[in-house]
Amino acid sequence: MLSGLNTLFTGQVLMRLDAVSSTNDFLKDLARDAGNAEGMVVTAQIQHAGRGQRGTIWSSEPGKNLIMSVLYRPAFLLADQQFYLSKAVALAVASVVRQQSGGNVQVKWPNDVLLNGKKVCGILIENLIAGNALQSVVGIGLNVNQDHFPEHLTNATSMSIEAGKPFVVDAVLKALCETLEANYLQLRSHVNVLDDRYEQSLFGMNQWLTFEADGREFSGCIKGVDAAGKLLVEQVSGKVKAFALKEIQLVA
Ligand code: BTN
Repeated sequence: MLSGLNTLFTGQVLMRLDAVSSTNDFLKDLARDAGNAEGMVVTAQIQHAGRGQRGTIWSSEPGKNLIMSVLYRPAFLLADQQFYLSKAVALAVASVVRQQSGGNVQVKWPNDVLLNGKKVCGILIENLIAGNALQSVVGIGLNVNQDHFPEHLTNATSMSIEAGKPFVVDAVLKALCETLEANYLQLRSHVNVLDDRYEQSLFGMNQWLTFEADGREFSGCIKGVDAAGKLLVEQVSGKVKAFALKEIQLVA
């Protein structure tokens, strides 16, 4: 239980695990039983095989951070609208980080959250079909109180590093459950309702940056994200091209 939690369903069923391979994998196994509650949350102190985007490993110092997965059934989203859930989740994390630690908070496409220009949170959303229903397992790794990161993670930070004070992880979890649900309900009422906020928070929006695609570097200017979640990048020629996650990387 999270005391004082003000939600209809997000986090009302909460499983707190000490150690697990991955909270996403654990919740995906549970989600195959369609009787499990929408909004159920699994947290862990330690993940032995935490997974990130693009097949990477997610590492987190035991007990310091928020490692969680939440189950949603966004039946109101069409198959090609899945990115809207991603937007709602990234904006929820961004808003909690902004409220609790302050600082400059941005969303880096597709759904990393940056605090003062460094990555404070990663999100991994995985879909599965159980029965007839599409289920989305939303995995969130939010660096709350970790003070040191391995050397190779040069761009990682935490709320405590940036704010210069520790946070109560459960208070962050409670705020996040409430904000996730508020965004999810807004999305359910109107799928485009978060679009402007997403663009306002988007790192690099309307800025000329260096990207790499198809093995070549080029200058491009982010113009937003299309309905399928592809990044819209204006080329020097003035033409705007849409890129999927695996097709483009930001160089600088
Ligand atoms: C990224 O690469 O930025 C995404 C990281 C997602 C990490 C979270 S931690 C909780 C959940 N369980 C996992 O195995 N991954 C996600």
